[in-house]
Amino acid sequence: MALKINSLGGYIHEYQKSVNTPEKFWAEIADNFYWRKKWDKVVEWNFEEPRVEWFKNAKLNITENIFERNLFTHADKPAIIWEPNDPNEAHITLTYKELYEKVCQFANVLKGKGIEKGDRVIIYMPMVPEAAIAMLACARVGAVHSIVFAGFSSSALADRIEDCKAKMVITSDGNFRGTKKIPVKAVVDEALEAKSSIENVIVLQRTKQDVTMTAGRDTWWHEACEGVSTENKAEEMDSEDMLFILYTSGSTGKPKGVVHTCGGYMVYTAYTFQNVFHYNPGDIYWCTADVGWITGHSYIVYGPLVSGATSMMFEGVPTFPDAGRFWEVVAKHKVNQFYTAPTAIRALQAYGLDPVTKHDLSSLKVLGSVGEPINEEAWHWYHTHIGKGKCPIVDTWWQTETGGILISPLPGITPTKPSYATLPLPGVQPVIVDSEGKELKGNSVEGNLCIKFPWPSMIRTTYGDHERCRTTYFSTYPGMYFTGDGVKRDEDGYYRILGRVDDVINVSGHRMGTAEVENAINEHPLVIESAVVGYPHDIKGQGIYAYVIADMSASETDTEEELAKEIILTVSKIIGPIAKPDKVQIVSGLPKTRSGKIMRRILRKVAEGDISNLGDTSTLLNPEIVDELIAKAGLA
Ligand code: WT7
Repeated sequence: MALKINSLGGYIHEYQKSVNTPEKFWAEIADNFYWRKKWDKVVEWNFEEPRVEWFKNAKLNITENIFERNLFTHADKPAIIWEPNDPNEAHITLTYKELYEKVCQFANVLKGKGIEKGDRVIIYMPMVPEAAIAMLACARVGAVHSIVFAGFSSSALADRIEDCKAKMVITSDGNFRGTKKIPVKAVVDEALEAKSSIENVIVLQRTKQDVTMTAGRDTWWHEACEGVSTENKAEEMDSEDMLFILYTSGSTGKPKGVVHTCGGYMVYTAYTFQNVFHYNPGDIYWCTADVGWITGHSYIVYGPLVSGATSMMFEGVPTFPDAGRFWEVVAKHKVNQFYTAPTAIRALQAYGLDPVTKHDLSSLKVLGSVGEPINEEAWHWYHTHIGKGKCPIVDTWWQTETGGILISPLPGITPTKPSYATLPLPGVQPVIVDSEGKELKGNSVEGNLCIKFPWPSMIRTTYGDHERCRTTYFSTYPGMYFTGDGVKRDEDGYYRILGRVDDVINVSGHRMGTAEVENAINEHPLVIESAVVGYPHDIKGQGIYAYVIADMSASETDTEEELAKEIILTVSKIIGPIAKPDKVQIVSGLPKTRSGKIMRRILRKVAEGDISNLGDTSTLLNPEIVDELIAKAGLA
């Protein structure tokens, strides 16, 4: 595919073309793909409703672009290399032809179970090749997949099933993670205890642990596939038909279903994959994300596979059997591009260099970072010790809503700068605005990050509630998409992402809404009110700090310490272990303004351990509470 930019001049040329003649620019890129019918119009949009349509009236199926288009040249090329949790278990390689047959077969299974174009299917699975097969089989038949990260609790899963009225769940018996065997099917069973829209559950056998199978509803994956044809004709999809829904957290208590569509998402993820990772035929590319997050969707499955690349999938964790596992896997499979999150780098950095130097990392050419700002120390460690000073680091900024990478260096082509995502990719028009929405032009400015022109893989709607999409992303600064991130453009014009400016905490690269965590805490019977803020955490980037007012008198046995533990358990049960507060402080009150608004700024300061600049607290309704917070946090 002739999509690759090869020089700095090429980048500048392409970027300018994408801004001056966006339709021409994207039409030329889209011409590299297989369309059953081409578009009538490249893009039609307004950010008021909002309405965004790319490659209008074009017809395609994304899996035909992965398989049929590539099969003559790629049949025997590895599509997925799967590395299991246990290094003693054999890895699996699926060629494009093998993957194609498995996808077609499972597509036929879905159809046999009554799944039709437009139906929603929940995938709740560990990192096994079948997770990708299930996604692609959905795309093949035109069903809309919604993957729920397998670390989410049964109630979080039930909420998502209910929100999108899914007809089927695809899951596994269990999940191997490090030394642990985690129940997965049991969580699904719990989620389905109440009446739901689910008609069928397909269960992959992975851990062989005991599970309960409900007759008439549950089928084993291997039994469902027995004797089923490996030929399947792909469903014809409109460019703007839904490809998937992915739930993500925001400022409100309820996660929203971000909707992505077929044509634009395909074009943008493949284009950015090839450019940001500088993928060359024969390279082995490894992204360590989970398919439950957008990174797994766009840069393990769709972007790489549409590009005919070899994509590694890893089932395990970075520290099992030891902290050298990532590097062992890089050496074993001669990985060329390695894409991970700053939190993993910081966690591994803490184990020193022995686990690194043991392994031959000379195959590496490009290193990637995603999910949160990468601090300079971690950037240098990654660059020096993993990349041996010769691999450019692509610090890729993007979001679930953007579908693909928007700001990132192009390796070896545009400059890198520690902790900077640097420059927008072609087609991306960032603007920085102040709190009044005034555009801050020129360099050396800081403000809120917006995008003023559509790009092909952007969010189309929030499932079932278009108004929510409008108010969340398009109403703060009319006429622009608002990212929720603060940003700085330095004296050279490079972008540095400063973090969220809304009530969202980024824990280990995963987005948590403070309101969502507060709602979960408030489920504890002794809790009266709570307020959650983020604070700097050495490994996770941000940790979760919860201030809780509880009715201690209602319980005779609870100590504050026990109560804190119970609260953490409650959150784990309601959302999942990823949302567990790192610190719980039981307080008698929360600092409030006279209008009753919680002063989160004060809570953040105390959580950070910095009480030097609390500002004027005398206007608070309850100024005395500040001293209590400080004393209880051990800062007095
Ligand atoms: C938020 C999006 C994009 C896939 C993973 C997270 C933060 C993401 C970077 C980066 C600084 C980053 C932003 C963004 N973020 N990448 N390279 N530098 N911050 O997806 O859960 O949708 O979260 O992650 O704050 O808004 P997500």
